[in-house]
Amino acid sequence: MGRSLCCQESVESTNNLAKQLAKQNAPHGLLIISEEQTGGKGRIGRGWASPKSKGLWLSVLLRPNLLPQDAPKSTLLAAVAVCQAVNTVAGVQAKIKWPNDILLNGKKLVGILSEMGAEYGKLNYVVIGIGLNTNAERQDFPTDVQDIAISLHQAATKEFSRDEVLAEILWQMEKLVEEAETKGFASILEQWRKMNCTTGNKVKVIAQDETYLGKALDIDETGMLIVERENGVIDKVVAGDVSIRYAE
Ligand code: BTN
Repeated sequence: MGRSLCCQESVESTNNLAKQLAKQNAPHGLLIISEEQTGGKGRIGRGWASPKSKGLWLSVLLRPNLLPQDAPKSTLLAAVAVCQAVNTVAGVQAKIKWPNDILLNGKKLVGILSEMGAEYGKLNYVVIGIGLNTNAERQDFPTDVQDIAISLHQAATKEFSRDEVLAEILWQMEKLVEEAETKGFASILEQWRKMNCTTGNKVKVIAQDETYLGKALDIDETGMLIVERENGVIDKVVAGDVSIRYAE
């Protein structure tokens, strides 16, 4: 991971650039990183504030040997890699909130947006976009997220070397991709389960057409969240357009 590298001062979105390069045959493992993004994208059509030099705004291009419907596995793998990397470098206890947010002290430290290119049942590429708040202060975040976002600097009150965090993320990703290829995906799922803070909790599922309460039981082998509704019906929730809140 990152053995091919594209470093930018400013881009609209590293994910957009990664998708463009993917269509021009860029290799598996290509890293695109930028000091700032002028149009950073979040999940569910949201934006992602990416102030200059305050975080790691990057995308990794993967060409996994998976069917399109299994592409979410790459996102789960990335969440495990990033969570592991952050905990190793900063000595903290970050957790994964389904599907792929990384929380520290209950606030959002990392967001992951994956996008794929597929045709005729064949997965061409997956772009894993990672936004990690390393050295941002409260005022660097947009006002509407100041109470729910956190940076490593805020949590540990010291400056973090973005190079060090980045190197660890790439190393963990490389290790996990190899592990998935040799041992199968079950071992990645097991690590995801250990690092997550969603299963076992009451959640509010906010989908496009309905909102309901339930209990998050587990994730299945493709990364769907298994939720028991209050009426006892068991649902499988696809990450795509859904947002999850913790419920009392
Ligand atoms: C989320 O909504 O939680 C996902 C945020 C993903 C942000 C990252 S920053 C690098 C990459 N480029 C983008 O435009 N978005 C992702």
